[in-house]
Amino acid sequence: MAYVLGIDTSTTATKAILVADDGSVAGEASSEYPYETPQALWAEQDAGLWWTAAIDSIRAVLAQTAASGDHVKAVGLTGQMHGLVLLDEFDRPLRPAILWNDQRTAAECEEIRAAIGRDRLIATTGNDALGGFTAPKILWVRNHEPDIFARARHVLLPKDYLRLRLTGEYATDRAGAAGTILFDLAQRDWSQPVLADLGLDPAWLPETFEGPAITGTVTAAAAEATGLVAGTPVVGGGGDQAANAVGAGAVREGVAALSLGTSGVVFVTTDSPQIEPEGRLHAFCHAVPGKWHLMGVMLSAAGSLRWFNDELAPEVPVADLVASAAEVPAGSDGVLFLPYLSGERTPHPDPLARGAFVGLTVRHTRAHLVRAVLEGVAFGLRDSLDLIRETGVAVDQVRASGGGTRSGLWRQILADVLEAEVVALGTAEGAAYGAAVLAGVGAGWHASVEDATEAWVTLNDRTEPSGTDYSEANERYRALYPALRSTFHDIAATTD
Ligand code: XUL
Repeated sequence: MAYVLGIDTSTTATKAILVADDGSVAGEASSEYPYETPQALWAEQDAGLWWTAAIDSIRAVLAQTAASGDHVKAVGLTGQMHGLVLLDEFDRPLRPAILWNDQRTAAECEEIRAAIGRDRLIATTGNDALGGFTAPKILWVRNHEPDIFARARHVLLPKDYLRLRLTGEYATDRAGAAGTILFDLAQRDWSQPVLADLGLDPAWLPETFEGPAITGTVTAAAAEATGLVAGTPVVGGGGDQAANAVGAGAVREGVAALSLGTSGVVFVTTDSPQIEPEGRLHAFCHAVPGKWHLMGVMLSAAGSLRWFNDELAPEVPVADLVASAAEVPAGSDGVLFLPYLSGERTPHPDPLARGAFVGLTVRHTRAHLVRAVLEGVAFGLRDSLDLIRETGVAVDQVRASGGGTRSGLWRQILADVLEAEVVALGTAEGAAYGAAVLAGVGAGWHASVEDATEAWVTLNDRTEPSGTDYSEANERYRALYPALRSTFHDIAATTD
């Protein structure tokens, strides 16, 4: 028996999956944890939780498959991006990690733009300063917790804290590192000018590696804790979106990965560093060596349907709600839904944006609202895809994963609104599977990530555009945010 292990340190759980050398998933285990919101806009997590959850899930998946540590030939890491882990000289976390969904750093984003210049920041790092990214969080600690900042010696991302516990090495992958916005996108390494202009010490940052490259090996202590064998190689892996795209086989131009979970992501691979000039798309390195990617992130995608279900129809199973929407014509008889329930990133980087139902009359039913939610989320994803297409990257196929894509109706709406074939994947393991693919390449099982995904990634159901025309509804949807923006900001100013 020979396996690779993919570990995903997500916001809510650490998942471990074992993948056999034919690409099949032999077992999966997950261990959950909470995150804290000690103040409005804050999101924090104790880094120690990731290590204990990883121990639990690695041990559980080995037990479940009756595999022993020496069957595991390599480990790949993925996880939530952008989180700030600050360590002291003894590798002790100095404070809870500040997570990707934390929005406290509006002032520090301005500070970064002022120090570097917005255009130069976008040209170098590929991205504007957004509150979720890592760099503004480091500045926030410097501005608000100077005693902690003075004791800091290492900056790591969440999955790289796990890597430190597993291997004793300070290392990160380039897809994740680009999400700090301290990174030179074209050079695929830390940007010394950006670090200098922000007054940050380059010695705090870990060495960067490509996704399948070996970053270290499991230590004797970590082997003792997890059941793995000392000396097992651990590869770079990738931030969760890049790893998810690898798991979907979105590793060449033309194929997009769409993830329809709580948030919604449209991801495309590029052969050279492409940048959306206004920074409305994220431009990061891919976990595929020598490739880059663009992505649009909407913060409340399947999360919008979940909210509707929980708050407005808690007694109705979600499948019944979605089934009721199939009875309503395309366009929801004029009802539109704006899915900015958690603010938005793409195409409107605005934490104060709000959700809305527009166009209601007494004739409309709950089913209309449900269909409007499904369509509104698809329109939001279409905004990202249009920005991607405007950079010159063509998209012929969309490979969809995440809970939302289980619905055939939603897949059809997506194919019609995105005007592309939507393909569901054979494996639903997402980023953890991508991390295992990268480990498979690191173990020498495949010559390249592209070869590995060709051999391993299986496709299920294909949904072609049906010819239903959503262009009128989509145009009305697009007009809503500009029309409502000042109202959203007024509401935020008086109620937050
Ligand atoms: C990507 C992003 C999320 C987090 C959480 O930019 O913020 O995907 O990585 O999973």
